[in-house]
Amino acid sequence: MSVRQWVLDKLWHGNDPVAAFPRHIYGVDHQGWNSDHGYLAEAIDVVRPRIVVEVGVWKGGSVATMAARLKALALDGVVIAIDTWLGASDHWLNPGFHAELRFRDGYPSLYHCFMANMIDKGLEDYIVPLPLDSVNALVVLKERGIEVDVLHIDAGHDYQSVKNDLKAWWPLLRPGGVLIGDDYHRDRLHWPEVAAAIDDFFAETPHESFRADWGKCYVRKLAGTLS
Ligand SMILES: C[S@@+](CC[C@H](N)C(=O)[O-])C[C@H]1O[C@@H](n2cnc3c(N)ncnc32)[C@H](O)[C@@H]1O
Repeated sequence: MSVRQWVLDKLWHGNDPVAAFPRHIYGVDHQGWNSDHGYLAEAIDVVRPRIVVEVGVWKGGSVATMAARLKALALDGVVIAIDTWLGASDHWLNPGFHAELRFRDGYPSLYHCFMANMIDKGLEDYIVPLPLDSVNALVVLKERGIEVDVLHIDAGHDYQSVKNDLKAWWPLLRPGGVLIGDDYHRDRLHWPEVAAAIDDFFAETPHESFRADWGKCYVRKLAGTLS
C-alpha cells in the first residue's frame, strides 16, 4: 500500500478528496509567497520523507515545491496540506489579500483554487488536503498515529499562533526530522513576532543545525529526542 493510501485511510476513511474534485470548474492561480525557497526541496532531499506536513497552505505554492521534489525523487511519500483555507488575520485586514480569498456566496473558495493548482501541476498523487485548523489537525494526526518527517509551519504569523504551532507540532516530528519556519527574519524588520516566537521556542527546546536564510529558518530535531 502506498503511503498516500495509508494516509487517506487514516484521515479520510479511505475516501480520496482529489478523485471527487471537479477539476474543470475551478481556475488555477499559482501565486504564493517565497514558495520555492531552497530549504523546502533541501529538506526532502536530506530526509527522504514519507510524511511531510505543511500547516498554512494558501494556494499551495510551497506544498507544490515539496510534492514536486517527492515526485522527482520517486519517493513513496505525501504532503499533508493543512489549512482552514479561510485566511489568517493579516489576509482579512488587507483588502488585496482579502480579495484573494476568492469569495463565493460570501465564503472563501481558496481550497478549490489549491486543489485546481495541484491537479494542474500533476501533483495530486503526492498530496492529501486536511481542511482543518492547526489545533484540530494535530489532534487528528496524533490520534491516528501519524508521525512527521518534514514539517513546514506557515500559518498564523502573530507571536501566540507561531508559538502555539511550534509547541503543538514539534513533538510529532520524528527524531532527525526537519522543521522549516516561514517568515523568520533575524533582523526582525519583517514579521518580528514570528522571529520572536521561534527564537523563544528554540531557546528552551533541544535541536540541532538551526540556520536561516531569505525569510525561512531550517532546524533539525536531534536524533533520539521526543520533545
Ligand atoms: C501565508 S499563507 C501560507 C502560504 C503558503 N505556504 C504559500 O507557499 O503560499 C497562511 C495560511 O495559513 C492559514 N492559517 C492561518 N491560521 C491557521 C490555523 N490556525 N490553522 C490552519 N490554517 C491556518 C491561512 O488560511 C492561510 O492560507
